Amino acid sequence: MCGIVGFTGMDNAAPNILEGLEKLEYRGYDSAGIAVLNDGIINITKVTGRIAALREKTENGELMPGTTAIGHTRWATHGAPTDTNAHPHLSNDGRFAVVHNGIIENYMELKSKLIESGYIFESETDTEVVVHLLEKYYKGDMHSCIRKIASKLKGSYALGILCTENPNKIFATKQSSPLILGIGAGENYFASDVTALINYTQNVIYLEDGEFAEITPDEIKIFDCAGYEIKKPVSRVNWDIQAAEKGGYEHFMLKEITEQPRAVKATLTPRIKDGKIMLDNLNIELDGISKILITACGSAYYAGCAGKYIIEKLCRIPVELQLASELRYSDPIIDNKTLLIVLSQSGETADTIAAMKECSQRGAKTLAIVNVVGSTIANLADYTLYTHAGPEIAVATTKGYTTQLTVLYLFAVYAAEILGRIEADEYSKLLDDLMSIPKLLQNTMDMNSKIENTAKKYYTSDSMFFIGRNTDYALALEGALKMKEISYIHAESYAAGELKHGTIALISEGTPVIALACNQDIKEKTMSNIVEVKSRGARVLAVSLNDDKNIAMLANDIITVPKFDSPFAPILEIIPLQLMAYYVAKLNGCDIDKPKNLAKSVTVE
Ligand code: F6R
Repeated sequence: MCGIVGFTGMDNAAPNILEGLEKLEYRGYDSAGIAVLNDGIINITKVTGRIAALREKTENGELMPGTTAIGHTRWATHGAPTDTNAHPHLSNDGRFAVVHNGIIENYMELKSKLIESGYIFESETDTEVVVHLLEKYYKGDMHSCIRKIASKLKGSYALGILCTENPNKIFATKQSSPLILGIGAGENYFASDVTALINYTQNVIYLEDGEFAEITPDEIKIFDCAGYEIKKPVSRVNWDIQAAEKGGYEHFMLKEITEQPRAVKATLTPRIKDGKIMLDNLNIELDGISKILITACGSAYYAGCAGKYIIEKLCRIPVELQLASELRYSDPIIDNKTLLIVLSQSGETADTIAAMKECSQRGAKTLAIVNVVGSTIANLADYTLYTHAGPEIAVATTKGYTTQLTVLYLFAVYAAEILGRIEADEYSKLLDDLMSIPKLLQNTMDMNSKIENTAKKYYTSDSMFFIGRNTDYALALEGALKMKEISYIHAESYAAGELKHGTIALISEGTPVIALACNQDIKEKTMSNIVEVKSRGARVLAVSLNDDKNIAMLANDIITVPKFDSPFAPILEIIPLQLMAYYVAKLNGCDIDKPKNLAKSVTVE
C-alpha cells in the first residue's frame, strides 16, 4: 500500500526516484508524485494515474533538476486518487515536503487544531497534517522537530521528508510501516521495500519503529526515539536484480508462476539434511502446545486452510484458523499453550500484525512464516521461518502461496516426528515426498498450453464456481481468489458437498464449475457432486490426476496433474488454477500484474 522512495547523491535525483517508484508500483498505482529540493526550493510534480504518466510529465525526470528528492506511488485511502491528494504534500510556507505510507489515525483531531492555528489544507488526505506539523514545530532543528511530531501522531507511518533549510539531506522515520535505508557509493536512499533498492545497492539497514534517519550523499545517521545516535547493522540483500525484472515474460505473474519449482526447492532443500528436517533454530516446546491457531489474510489464509489438514493429519494437534482481520476483534480464547502460526508474504500486512500482537498479549507463542527478511512480522514473532520465494512483484501472489504451503508441510512433518506421532519409515517416506515436490511442480507446468487453450472456452463467463472436498476445497478457495482478483470474473469456492444446501440454485445452463477431484480418499463423493451440477446444465472443468478415466468421462474439460501418492499432492493443483486465472484474465485484456483497486502489501487495516 503506497510506496515511498528517497534519493540524495551527486546525480539528478528525479530519474532515480522514477526508477524506484516503478519498482514499487505494485504497492499502489492510482497516483504518484516527486518533490525535488534544488537551490533552496522544493519543486513538486504530481499526476493521477501510473508512474508512466509521471515520467511523461517530467520528461523522464529531466524537468526536475536537483540531487535530493522524495517520491510516492499511491493507493488511495483518504481522498480520491487526484493530483491534489497525491503525495508529496508541501507545507504552506513551502519549506517542507512529505511522502507517507500508512494511516495517521488521529488526523481529524490534528487537522482541526492546525486549521484553528491558521494552516490551510489543500487535500483530503490524512498525510497533510504531517507537513503542517513540521512547519509548526520546526525551530531550526529537524531532530527535535521529528521527535515532537512523532509524539503527536497515532497510527502507522513511514515518512520521507525534505526541508529547504537542510540541503542535500532527506529525513526518514517510521512506525508500524516498513522503511529500508540503502547505502550506495556517494549516494544514499530510502524505500518502502528492497525491490526499489537492489538496482543500486544490496547493502541495507532496516529502520525500526521510533527511529529516524538523516541521510546525506556520504552518510546515513540513525537516531533512536530519544534522539541519541545509534549504530545499526548493515544487512546484505541476497535477491539479485534479475529476480525483480520480468526477464522476457509478458507479466510478472507468469514469470512467478513458472518460478515456483525453484522457489519451493530453495525453501525445502536447505532444511532437509542427512535424512532429517532442520527447521533453522526453531526450539518450540511442542509438547506443551495444546492448540495451533493459524492466522493470515487472503491467499496466505488459504495456504493456512491447506496447512490445517496436513498438520492435523500428521501431528494430531487441533488446528483452528481465523482471518487476521476477524481474529483481532474476536476476544480469542488463547493461552500460553497456544501456538499462533502467522503467514505473510510481505510481513507487513496490517491486519495480520494486529492479530499477532493481540494473541501475543494473551500469551500465545508466535511462529511467523514470512518471505520478506527484516519485515515487521518477522521481527515481532517469537520464531520465524522464511520462505525463500525471492521478490514477488505481481500483486496476485503465486510463489508466495506455494512456498508458504511448503513451510507448513515441513513444519507438519517436523512436529509430527518430534511429538512421536509418526514412525521412522513414514518420516523418511514423507521426506522423499517433500523432496520430489519441485520436480512434480515442474511437470505440472507442462499443462501450460493445454490450459491456455481451455481458458478460451471459459473466459467470457460472468461467474464461476470452484468446488472440492477436504484438501481440494482448500485449494479451490485459492483458485477462486486468483480468478476473481485478476480477471474480475465473479468466482465462488464451495465445499462440494455444501452446494446442494443453497448455492446449487445458481447453477444453470453453461455455468462454469471448476471441480477439483485429486483427493483420492474423497473423490467418489466429489464425482457425485459433479454429476449433480452437470445435470443442472453446468459446464465442468475437472482438475484430476492424470490416470483418472472416470472423471475424464464425466467432465466437459479436464486438466490433469501428475499422480502423487502423498499428503502433499494438493500443492500440485494450484498450478493449473493459477494458469487458468492468468489466461482467462489475459484473454479479457486485464492488467494482470496490477489489478484494479488492489495493491500488494496491505499496510492499512
Ligand atoms: C492475493 C494476495 C493477497 C495476499 C494478502 C496477504 O493474491 O496476494 O490476498 O495474500 O493480502 O498478504 P501477505 O501474505 O503479504 O500478508
